[in-house]
Amino acid sequence: MSQAAAFVRENRDRHLSELMEVLRIPSVSTDPARAAEVKRAASWVKTRLIRAGCTRTEIFETKRHPIVYGEWLKAKGAPTVLFYGHYDVQPEDPVELWTTPAFQPTIRDGRLYARGACDDKGQFIIHVNAFEAYLKTGGACPVNVKFLIEGEEEIGSPNLEPFIEGHKSLLACDAVVVSDTAMFDKKTPSIVHGLRGLSYIQVDVRGTSRDLHSGVYGGSVINPAFALAHIIAGLKDAKGKVKVPGFYDKVRKLTAAERAALRKLPHSDSRWKSSIGAKLLFGEAGFTTLERVWARPTLEINGIWGGFMGEGAKTVIPAEAHAKISMRLVPNQTPKEIVAKVTKAIKKLAPKSVDVTVTHIHSGESWLADTKHAALQAASRAVKRAFGKTPVFTREGGSIPVVATFDRVLKVPSVLMGIGLHDDNLHAPNEKLDLDNFYLGNEAAVHLMEELAHPTQR
Ligand code: BES
Ligand code: MN
Ligand code: MN
Repeated sequence: MSQAAAFVRENRDRHLSELMEVLRIPSVSTDPARAAEVKRAASWVKTRLIRAGCTRTEIFETKRHPIVYGEWLKAKGAPTVLFYGHYDVQPEDPVELWTTPAFQPTIRDGRLYARGACDDKGQFIIHVNAFEAYLKTGGACPVNVKFLIEGEEEIGSPNLEPFIEGHKSLLACDAVVVSDTAMFDKKTPSIVHGLRGLSYIQVDVRGTSRDLHSGVYGGSVINPAFALAHIIAGLKDAKGKVKVPGFYDKVRKLTAAERAALRKLPHSDSRWKSSIGAKLLFGEAGFTTLERVWARPTLEINGIWGGFMGEGAKTVIPAEAHAKISMRLVPNQTPKEIVAKVTKAIKKLAPKSVDVTVTHIHSGESWLADTKHAALQAASRAVKRAFGKTPVFTREGGSIPVVATFDRVLKVPSVLMGIGLHDDNLHAPNEKLDLDNFYLGNEAAVHLMEELAHPTQR
């Protein structure tokens, strides 16, 4: 074992307590009341990068939350690797469902529970630990290192793309590494080579100028909640197929070889079903669960509200009704195309008696990489060395929009080496990080730097 790998083994307890330190900072990016906490998390990251050995660090202010940058570029002639991650987290609600408070990290049964433990503080930090291990043992890292850790991922990274466009030479590199995804399962390490994109919209339906007594006026006007229900019901058929005209036009078809590869993965529908407490699985006909989640687009309602929602009964015709709707996109759909088609379909379904507005909230592109690429193969070897098993290549249904931006702007491959698990409760109560995965992840991150330094050897 290399000295650096031994170093991360010997420093497990310190790595854990440092992670717990940053997990105590409630850096919830969507909550304006917590902007100061987000800032505090950014400065924690900067300090950690300095202590790890970065020779230059900088906090770039944006219109909202800061971007943290750090670098170490002393590996003459070696490739440069850009490590991306996010220090912001999702809100902790509903708080009453947490066994221990979201921002009081707690260890139970070999897992660390806290908001951000897996998404993404406990993941990006493995690369900082790995980098530090090289500097503290041999004084040099096998690759040049750049860190880009943002604070707006959970709100759609509104300021990151312009930042990347404006800092191409600062961020120039040979490969991007991201740890912000899950392994196939605890026994099956994986490298992710595809992500779905995302387009998020809000639909607001207005009927009258104010709420109405449903006895006095009921029967004489449309109910906007009904109008919204009618619109939404028209977007998908009972079999799960999206009815928006042209929605599937640009979808890249899975090849026979890809479908065969997916069928070889150790997936079980009954385990998938029971792990989420579903009565039955449901989705587009003609596709398997993994095909539906990884390679087919969806349209979902993320929230729907309007009218009386308190206890008991209130006889009212609400003046307005609302829904948050998002579409997961796959190659070669584009957010622009899909938002336009869905908006048009909604307007067309809307009864004349209501005003409907559709507002675009944020979007990100899907991403798909060739598994044969040298950087992905290097990651595969690194994971094998740490986890003792050759990883499988998987795709993910979730989205990390900046990965497509790296592809387009920096023109380099991305390697997604995630150490999460699908039951880590991301965005939900009792988010956790498996500590075996954390410790082995630190070792995989050490090996990754070595493997990326010599991508064609071995
Ligand atoms: N880390 C997740 C994405 C993810 C999770 C990918 C698990 C694969 C497996 C990321 O922080 C996230 O939550 N992304 C959002 C999109 C973003 C634009 C708000 C998502 O996928 O909903
Ligand atoms: Mn994330
Ligand atoms: Mn997330």
